[in-house]
Amino acid sequence: MAEAAPARPRVWVSQPLFDDIVARLDEYFDIDANRSVADHAPDAIAAALRDVDGALVTLNDPVGAAEIARATRLRAIANVGVGYNNLDVPALARAGIVATNTPDVLTETTADFGFALMMAAARRITEAEHWLRAGHWQGWAFRNMLGQDIHGATLGILGMGRIGQGIARRAIGFGMRTLYHNRSRLPDAVERECRARYVDADTLLAQSDHLLLVLPYAPENHHLIDAAALARMKPSATLTNIARGGLIDEAALAEALHAGRLAAAGLDVFEGEPRVDPRLLALPNVVLTPHIASGSLATRRAMVALAVDNLIAALGYGPDAGRPRNPIPVKPTLS
Ligand code: DGY
Repeated sequence: MAEAAPARPRVWVSQPLFDDIVARLDEYFDIDANRSVADHAPDAIAAALRDVDGALVTLNDPVGAAEIARATRLRAIANVGVGYNNLDVPALARAGIVATNTPDVLTETTADFGFALMMAAARRITEAEHWLRAGHWQGWAFRNMLGQDIHGATLGILGMGRIGQGIARRAIGFGMRTLYHNRSRLPDAVERECRARYVDADTLLAQSDHLLLVLPYAPENHHLIDAAALARMKPSATLTNIARGGLIDEAALAEALHAGRLAAAGLDVFEGEPRVDPRLLALPNVVLTPHIASGSLATRRAMVALAVDNLIAALGYGPDAGRPRNPIPVKPTLS
């Protein structure tokens, strides 16, 4: 009698990605793929992880001790994204589960978007478009929709990792003066290349004409930009967030924008995504986008390809078996 083929490892793909890329997993694994996009509840994630060896997840999928409690086969979680605040990395490591993310491939696309969002907020682009579409334009007027300049202005970058540096490089072309604050100061050569000067957080808040948040979210920096921080900013300044919503106290931001204590904001991320604070929705001087900073077609495909490679390698298959390119360090780094 012929021997039964050994069971293949099984992986869970938590939402539709790109079928042609995900299909590469077929070579090694059986696949359970979710056919719809969902913010998964802890029970649903725990059930999906229970009988699989690995998973491709996104920021919709919080995975921590509770979700993996009964996932006795699970050995690898590949996050499709650079941010990984949805993962409890120490809890995964304690259970012997390797976690990976997708840095680098999204740096330039995300920097492009951060710059665009800052410009849209400063120059009131979406506000002006909504106003025009609503039929308010009765004739050219000299003082209509006056905004804040980008060229020659002071750019503040909070979080000077790869994406922050990409934004600083773009600012050179606009003749901006760039200041940054980071957990640690960058080497001289990088500061020179980015033409960026290190300052303390208070100086950054006080001097920036346009402040961009590009730092990873961690519980220690929850509501880092609160009412007190906003009060230190210039009333003519703009604030742009392409990192994580939890960095900003949205109620305090809405109040500052409403009261004219801040000129405008550009927000791609929100604390309770996909819910957006109704006070922000009601304000004209905030540009709101649905967490799409890394969302060019080429970059989203590259992110999935990298996550697939990471999963294959982390589960011990393929050319890099056992050596995934992007293991997440167990101590979360704030760069
Ligand atoms: C990330 O990669 O962390 C983004 O927020 C989602 O693309």
